[in-house]
Amino acid sequence: PHIMSEYYRNTPEIIQMGLEDLRKAVKNEGIEIEIDAAAEYYMDEIFLEKVKAGEELLTFGDNYILVETGFINRPQMLLEIFFHLEMAGYKPVFAHPERYQYLVADKDLLQDLIDRNIIFQINLLSLTGFYSKQVKDFAETLLEKANVRFFGTDCHNSRYLDMLETLPKSKTFEKIRHSEWLNISL
Ligand SMILES: [Fe+2]
Repeated sequence: PHIMSEYYRNTPEIIQMGLEDLRKAVKNEGIEIEIDAAAEYYMDEIFLEKVKAGEELLTFGDNYILVETGFINRPQMLLEIFFHLEMAGYKPVFAHPERYQYLVADKDLLQDLIDRNIIFQINLLSLTGFYSKQVKDFAETLLEKANVRFFGTDCHNSRYLDMLETLPKSKTFEKIRHSEWLNISL
């Protein structure tokens, strides 16, 4: 679930309650699956304040925290937030960077993130061309150049599932199949 100051006013408590409801529903259906929850934090000034204040944040695995930005403009405090997250002991995971237009257009910024060894999470759907050719091409570039360690589905409904089924046809499928995803460490 998103946590974004104005649009998604989620808290760890709300997400935890939703998780319990979901677990019950899954159990009632007799489906055996382990489900956990974290959050996707929007990187803005309010988030930076939370980090600096040492507020409780939802993490997953080995203290990973998923962070995202808007798709068009680079947030002013992007690098500052990464810095403070790391100072606070978190391992930030940059959500779907292949979809950020400001990053496609800014090779220096990309290199800076690579040099800082920021962990990237790519949406599998990006590799199918689901969003656009540009996103697909950039996702492939990131797989070559950046520290891509997590993959996500971005699955919001069954239409996304249909598209995910085309993934084995993508030219990067074999490569990602044999790469070391951190997903399996969760
Ligand atoms: Fe997102």
